[in-house]
Amino acid sequence: MLASSSVRHRATMAAVVLLAAAVAVSAARAKNECHSGDKAALLAIMSTLGSNASSFQSWNSDTPCCDWTNVFCSNVSSTSPYTARRVIGLSLQDDDILAGPFPGAAIAGLTTLQQLLMINVPGVKGTIPHDLTRLNATLSFVDISSTGISGPVPSFLSEITALGHLRLSTNKLTGPIPASLGDMPNLYFLDLSNNRLTGTLPRLLFSKASDYYSDKYLYLSHNKLTGSVPAEFATVNFWGLDLSHNGFTGDASFLFGVNKSLDYLNLSHNVFDFNFSAVQLPVNLDGLDLSHNHIYGDIPDQVVDVTVTYFNVSYNRLTGVVPTGGTMFWFDASCFQHNKGLCGTPLPPCIKH
Ligand SMILES: *[C@@H]1O[C@H](CO)[C@@H](O)[C@H](O)[C@H]1NC(C)=O
Ligand SMILES: *[C@@H]1O[C@H](CO)[C@@H](O)[C@H](O)[C@H]1NC(C)=O
Ligand SMILES: *[C@@H]1O[C@H](CO)[C@@H](O)[C@H](O)[C@H]1NC(C)=O
Ligand SMILES: *[C@@H]1O[C@H](CO)[C@@H](O)[C@H](O)[C@H]1NC(C)=O
Ligand SMILES: *[C@@H]1O[C@H](CO)[C@@H](O)[C@H](O)[C@H]1NC(C)=O
Ligand SMILES: *[C@@H]1O[C@H](CO)[C@@H](O)[C@H](O)[C@H]1NC(C)=O
Ligand SMILES: *[C@@H]1O[C@H](CO)[C@@H](O)[C@H](O)[C@H]1NC(C)=O
Repeated sequence: MLASSSVRHRATMAAVVLLAAAVAVSAARAKNECHSGDKAALLAIMSTLGSNASSFQSWNSDTPCCDWTNVFCSNVSSTSPYTARRVIGLSLQDDDILAGPFPGAAIAGLTTLQQLLMINVPGVKGTIPHDLTRLNATLSFVDISSTGISGPVPSFLSEITALGHLRLSTNKLTGPIPASLGDMPNLYFLDLSNNRLTGTLPRLLFSKASDYYSDKYLYLSHNKLTGSVPAEFATVNFWGLDLSHNGFTGDASFLFGVNKSLDYLNLSHNVFDFNFSAVQLPVNLDGLDLSHNHIYGDIPDQVVDVTVTYFNVSYNRLTGVVPTGGTMFWFDASCFQHNKGLCGTPLPPCIKH
C-alpha cells in the first residue's frame, strides 16, 4: 500500500518534471519567435527607411525579431506559452542615416503596437499617414519628434482612441490644431511645440478626456498660434501648460486658482493682456514664466505662500512693490525688469510720495 502509493507518487512527479521541461522548451521556443506578421512589418519598415541605418543593424531576418534592437515585445504568456510574442513597442532614435517617407502602412502592420517612438530622425519625411488609425485600439504612446515630417496635424488622429500621450514636437507641421483632438477619450499629454502651427486653440481640448490620468499636459511653444485661451480651459486640470512664443492675446488669468494642480505655466512671449493683481497662484506652482506680455496690475502678495522655484514677470506692464518673503529672494532683477512701475528689492527702492 505504502510502496505502491510512493511508486505512483514518483511516477506522477516524473510526469510533472517532464511536463515542466516541455513547457520550458516551448516557452524558450516561443521566446525566440515573433509573430510572422510583425516580422514582415518590421522588414518592410527597414526596407522603406534604409537597411544601412544603424537602428537596423541587428535586424537580421534569420534571427527572432524580438531580439532585434529597438523592437520591444510582449512577454511570453504564462498561460499560453506556445503563442508567439507580439511587438508592442518600436523606438527609432538618433539616426541620421535612416531616411524615407513615414512608413505608415508597415507600422500599421504591427497590429498590437502600443508605443511608437521616432525621435531625432531628420531623414524621415512626408505627412503623418492615415494608416496609423488602424492601430486605434492599441496605440497609446506616440512620440514623433525632431523628424522631417510636414503637413497638417491630421484630424484623424482622434480616431486612435487608445492614444494618451501624443508628442509631435520639432517637426515641420503646419495648419491648425484640429478640433477633433478634443474628442479623444484618453488623451492627457499633447506636445506640438516647435512647429509652424497657425490658428486658434480648439475650445474643447481635453474636454472628453477621462480622469484616469487626471493631470493634463499641453505644450505648444514656438508656433504661430493666435487668439485667446478658450474659457473652457479653466476647467481642465493642467499640470503643465506651455503656450510660450506664440501670438496669443487677451485674458489668461482664469488659468490660475489657488486649488489648481498647475505645476508649470509658461505664457512668455505672447501678447497676453490681463490684470495680475487679483490672481491667486496655485499652491503647487513650481515654475511661472509670464515674461514678454502686456500683463498689468500688481504682483499678488500671495506669491510668498507658494514655493515657486522659477518666477519671471519681466517685460510686462506691472506696477507696485515686489513682494518679499517666501522664495522671492531667489529671483534677481532680471525676473522683474522692464515693467511699467515695479519697484523694491531686487529692483531699485520705491520712491515714497
Ligand atoms: C551603406 O553603407 C556603406 C558603408 O557605410 C556605404 O558604402 C553604402 O553606400 C551605403 N549604401 C546605401 C544604400 O546607402
Ligand atoms: C515582462 O516581464 C517583466 C518581468 O516579470 C516585467 O517587469 C515587465 O513589465 C513585463 N513586460 C510586459 C510588457 O508585460
Ligand atoms: C477601431 O476601429 C474599428 C474600425 O473602425 C472599430 O470597429 C473599433 O470599434 C475601433 N476600436 C476602438 C477601441 O476604438
Ligand atoms: C518659457 O518659454 C520660453 C520660450 O519658449 C523659454 O525660453 C523659457 O525658458 C521658458 N521658461 C521656463 C521657466 O521654462
Ligand atoms: C481650496 O481648497 C480648500 C480646501 O479644500 C477650500 O477650503 C477652499 O475653499 C478652496 N478655495 C477655492 C478658491 O476654491
Ligand atoms: C487690477 O485689479 C485690482 C484688484 O482687483 C484693482 O484694484 C485695480 O484697479 C486693477 N487695475 C487695473 C489697471 O484695472
Ligand atoms: C527673465 O526673463 C527675461 C526676458 O526673457 C530674461 O532676460 C531673464 O534672463 C530672465 N531671468 C531669469 C533668471 O531667467
